Amino acid sequence: MKSLANKRILLGVTGGIAAYKSADLTRRLREAGAGVRVVMTRGATGFITPLTLQALSGHAVRLELFDANAEAAMGHIELARWADAVLVAPASADFMARLAHGRADDLLSTLCLATTAPIALAPAMNQQMWLNAATQANKSILETRGIRLFGPAEGSQACGETGPGRMLEPLDIAALAAQLFESNVLSGARVLVSAGPTREALDPVRYISNRSSGKMGYAIAEAAVEAGARVTLVSGPVSLATPERVARVDVVSAEEMRQAVLAHAGESDIFIAAAAVADYRALEPAQQKMKKGREKLDLALTRNADILESVSALARAPFTVGFAAETENLEQNAEAKRRAKKLDMVAANRVDRAGTGFDGDENEIELFWEGGRKHLPRAPKPRLARELVSVVAERFHAKNPA
Ligand code: PMT
Repeated sequence: MKSLANKRILLGVTGGIAAYKSADLTRRLREAGAGVRVVMTRGATGFITPLTLQALSGHAVRLELFDANAEAAMGHIELARWADAVLVAPASADFMARLAHGRADDLLSTLCLATTAPIALAPAMNQQMWLNAATQANKSILETRGIRLFGPAEGSQACGETGPGRMLEPLDIAALAAQLFESNVLSGARVLVSAGPTREALDPVRYISNRSSGKMGYAIAEAAVEAGARVTLVSGPVSLATPERVARVDVVSAEEMRQAVLAHAGESDIFIAAAAVADYRALEPAQQKMKKGREKLDLALTRNADILESVSALARAPFTVGFAAETENLEQNAEAKRRAKKLDMVAANRVDRAGTGFDGDENEIELFWEGGRKHLPRAPKPRLARELVSVVAERFHAKNPA
């Protein structure tokens, strides 16, 4: 798995001789698995053509804030929401100054104000400009606001001088960009996640199942790794690759999932149950393939044990987070599940809306815990998973102070 797999990077390119390196950087980010969209300032186009970056990123490059055609394809607020991270490389002295003072006088500075994603700058400028008190003051302001600075490096410069101000090499910037997603809020914690559907056999070739793709659970497993946790993922049958640094246990039926979860729950600090477990299985699955002779067929079903309830009832239960998949009365049903299953938290999602819930690439979640709740607005599942993991980490640490 690549270090930026599934991440969406908005690459800002500002005016400076180092802008030629943005071509290589775009390639490196894509090689690391990221989707890249490029926004250039007017000054940058004097150093590298939008066409070059369009060819390398695979998307039209955005230049203007008020471009009706481009806005129709993806509005600037949508673009700001699209990004999992904003990386400005090279970042000129002028751009740093404008960002430090909250200007929104072009597309890139506006996007930086409008995004909630982490922002990183790779400064590149003449060494005197870098050392100038104004630039250093802007650097401090930006860092105080949580904006990360990658570099600059020291060395010989295009202007013939030597000193600090060289942009870092694209490979190094791509490696640092991967660290933007690492929060360490679950450093050292052991996290168990369930994901995907279960299959309950009716006969050797047929089964009862549901439309869970596993995307939500896999995104949570990945987000927990980024947060520094050791992650075990108990997965029903899905066609997703195992996220890097995740120990995956494959199961098929609800009973197999229950056994696998219980085998790991005792040694876990947190259990997040995103799997869509079948509530019922066939009472007596046929040993041979059922023939279709009969006009009417009755299937006798029996309840599966509830995995979450078994975990929260353990003497040394982990911090237990259940999901609630609802088509109506989200809050009441989710809160009822939280209480009935004695959960520390429940993540409620609607499963009757196109594009979210089962099999969608996006989701929207309402989190409930004793005395609190938080709305996680509609977003791609990987981003939502990171937000969910950060709230879980907060509540977990509140329950288990160091
Ligand atoms: O996999 P995706 O395509 O990305 O879709 C994500 C999702 C919609 C499946 C996911 O976000 C989700 O809602 N998962 C829970 C689905 C579900 O079965 O919800 P439920 O309300 O029926 O169950 C409540 C909770 O009890 C769940 O945490 C479930 O894992 C758990 N459960 C249910 C039955 C059972 N026998 N044992 C359980 O532990």
